[in-house]
Amino acid sequence: MTKRSFKRTLVTSALPYANGPLHLGHLAGVYVPSDIYVRYLRQRGRDVISICGSDEHGVPITLKARHEGTTPQEVVDRYHALNKKAFEDFGITFDIYARTTSPVHYETASEFFTTLYEKGVFVEKTSEQYYDEEAAAFLADRYITGTCPHCGNPCAYGDQCEQCGTSLSPTDLVNPVSTISGSKPVLKETRHWYLPLDRYEAWLKKWILEDHREWKSNVYGQCKSWLDQGLQPRAVSRDLDWGVPVPLEDAQGKVLYVWFDAPIGYISATRELTPDWEKYWKDGDTRMIHFIGKDNIVFHCIIFPAMLKAEGSYILPDNVPANEFLNLENDKISTSRNWAVWLHEYLEDFPGKQDVLRYVLCANAPEAKDNDFTWKDFQNRNNNELVAILGNFVNRAMVLTHKYFSGKVPAVTQLTPADSEVLEQIGAIREGVEQSLENFRFREAVKVAMDLARLGNKYLAETEPWKLIKQDPDRVATILNVALQISASLTLLLDPFLPFSMKKLREMLRFGETSWELTGKPDLLKAGHVIGAASLLFEKIEDEQITAQLDKLMQSRDNNKATDGVAPLKEEISFEDFTRMDLRAGTILEAEKVPKTKKLIRMTVDLGMEQRTIVSGIAEFYDPGELPGKKVTVLANLAPRNIRGIESKGMILLAENPDGSLHFIQPAAEALNGSEIN
Ligand code: 2FM
Ligand code: ZN
Repeated sequence: MTKRSFKRTLVTSALPYANGPLHLGHLAGVYVPSDIYVRYLRQRGRDVISICGSDEHGVPITLKARHEGTTPQEVVDRYHALNKKAFEDFGITFDIYARTTSPVHYETASEFFTTLYEKGVFVEKTSEQYYDEEAAAFLADRYITGTCPHCGNPCAYGDQCEQCGTSLSPTDLVNPVSTISGSKPVLKETRHWYLPLDRYEAWLKKWILEDHREWKSNVYGQCKSWLDQGLQPRAVSRDLDWGVPVPLEDAQGKVLYVWFDAPIGYISATRELTPDWEKYWKDGDTRMIHFIGKDNIVFHCIIFPAMLKAEGSYILPDNVPANEFLNLENDKISTSRNWAVWLHEYLEDFPGKQDVLRYVLCANAPEAKDNDFTWKDFQNRNNNELVAILGNFVNRAMVLTHKYFSGKVPAVTQLTPADSEVLEQIGAIREGVEQSLENFRFREAVKVAMDLARLGNKYLAETEPWKLIKQDPDRVATILNVALQISASLTLLLDPFLPFSMKKLREMLRFGETSWELTGKPDLLKAGHVIGAASLLFEKIEDEQITAQLDKLMQSRDNNKATDGVAPLKEEISFEDFTRMDLRAGTILEAEKVPKTKKLIRMTVDLGMEQRTIVSGIAEFYDPGELPGKKVTVLANLAPRNIRGIESKGMILLAENPDGSLHFIQPAAEALNGSEIN
C-alpha cells in the first residue's frame, strides 16, 4: 500500500465505560500510546485533534446502579469526573473529554440512525428474545447469564463469555438465568433494527485484507478471522430504558445498542469541540486513527466502518493500532477481584511520578502480544534507566557546567571528529524515533529516544571532562557544550513520552523551545546562555516501596480466596439505615405450596402479637410438610407485596449459598415469638 500524505489527523482513543475507575491496563493499552502520538504530531506542528470521552451507556452501568441502589446517571457522573481527572493527572492531553449522555451526542447518534434508516440500510426483524416475567423486562446482553456453549463456563454473559472470549447471543446460553430476578427467562417476541453486515462483507474484505495490509498483524489477523467466518446482521437496538432512544415513532422502550452509539461518540465529541468538525470527519485529506484495546477490534475495524460506509459522508479509519492486554504480576487484571493498580491509588503512593509509569508502560507495552507488568520491572526501569541513564547524564552535564563555568554554556573551541559524530548521531536517532512513531511502534520509539541519553552518558564517560579541567579547560568547554546540546535535544525528543520531566528539564536549562524539528540542530543553547539550578529529574525507588505494592496485591488475592464464590459486599449503610428495619423472631404455623408455581410457599407465621401470611420462594429447598414449628427471622415492617394474588406481609430471612440454595436464618429456641432482633 503506497503511503499518501494527509493534511490533518484525527486521533480517537476508546471511550472508557464510566462505571469504574481506570487502571494501568487502560493506560498501557490505549491512552499512553495515543497521547505519545498526538504530542509528537503537535510538536511537529501538524494539524491534529485528540478525541476521547466517557462511554456512558450499556447494561453494566445500569446493573451497577441497580446494585448500588442508585441511578445510572449518578454512576456515570461519578466515574466521568474521576476518570477525566485521572487522565489529566497523567498528562493525557485530549482536546476534549466528552460524554455520551450529552445532548449533542443524543442528537448526533439519533441523526446517524435516522440517516441509515431513511436510506433503507437496516433490516427490521421480529424475533424471540429472553424476557424476565417477574421484572417485566427483556434481558439484553449482561442482564442474562448462563453456561457458555463453547467452554462450559457457568457464568457467561448474554453478549460474551469472559472465560473463552467468544461473543455470544443470549439464546446461545445453556440454562439462562435473569440477572435481575434470578428467574428462568421465557422467550417473547420483540422487534429490532439490524445492520446487515453480511452485505458489507465483500467490501470489508477488500478494504481491510487488500487495502490495509499494513495494519498491525494482531489487528489484521483478528479482522481476517472474523471475515473468514462470515458476517451476520447485528441488532443495533435493545429493549432497555438507559441509552439513546431509537428515534422512530413506534419504538417506545427501545434504545440504540451501546456499541452503535459509542463510536458515534467520537463524532459528537468532535462536534462539541469545534464548529469545524466536518473538516475532520468528512474530508478525505484527514487521516483517522483509532487507538483501542484488542477487545474493541471488531467494533472499530468492521462494525463502525460499515456504519460509516453505509452513512456515506464520513471518512474511514486509516489505521487502528490496537494493543493486546497487559497482565499484572502474571495474572489477568480484574476489577471484580481487585487485581489491578488503580491510577488514583498509584498517584497517592507515588506522587509526582506520572512519567515513571508512562515510561514503564510504554517500554513494556503489550504491542504484539499480551505482556506482564511487574513491580520489580517498574523499579528496575526507574532505577537503571530513568535515574541511571537519563537523570544521571543531564545532571552531570549541568552540575559540571555550574562547577567549571558558573552555569554559563561554554563556547566550543574545537570539535573533534568524535564530537562531530556524536552531534550527527542526534539526527539519526531523531529519524529513528520518527520512523517508529509513524508506524505505531512505541516500545521501539522510547528505546531509540533513550539511546540519545545513553549516547550522552557514553560521551561523558569516554571524554572524562572532570579529569581534563586542570590541563585543558578549552577541551572541557567543548565537551560540556556538546553535552548541553544533547540535553536540549533530549527535552524535545523525550517530551511525548515524559512530558512532566522534560518540562522540568527545559525549565532547568532555561530552554523554551519545543519544536520537534529543532532536535539535533546545533547551538540550541547558545554560548553564554545561563542555565538554571540542577535538581534531580528522577529519584531511586526503594525496595520497601515495591514490597508495599506487592503486599497490597497479595492482600487482594487473600481477600479473594476468602470470599471465592461469595457475592461482593454491598455499599456501606449507616446505623440509622439498619435501625429502620424491624426484625422479629417468629414460628411457622402452617405452610402450603402456592398452586401453579415452582418455587413459592405460603406460610402463616406467629409473630407473638399477630399472625402473618408470608409468601417465600423456597419450595425447591424446603418441603411444606417440614415447615410448621420452625423458628424463622422475619423482616416485619416491609411494605406488603402482592405475590401471585396473595398479600405477603413481611419477609423471611434466608441465606443464599453460591449454588443458589436457600437456608433459614433461625433464632435460638429460647427466643420468643415477636422478640426484636437488634
Ligand atoms: O471497551 C470499552 O471500554 C468501550 N467503552 C469502548 C468504546 S470505544 C468507542 F466506540 F466508543
Ligand atoms: Zn466460554
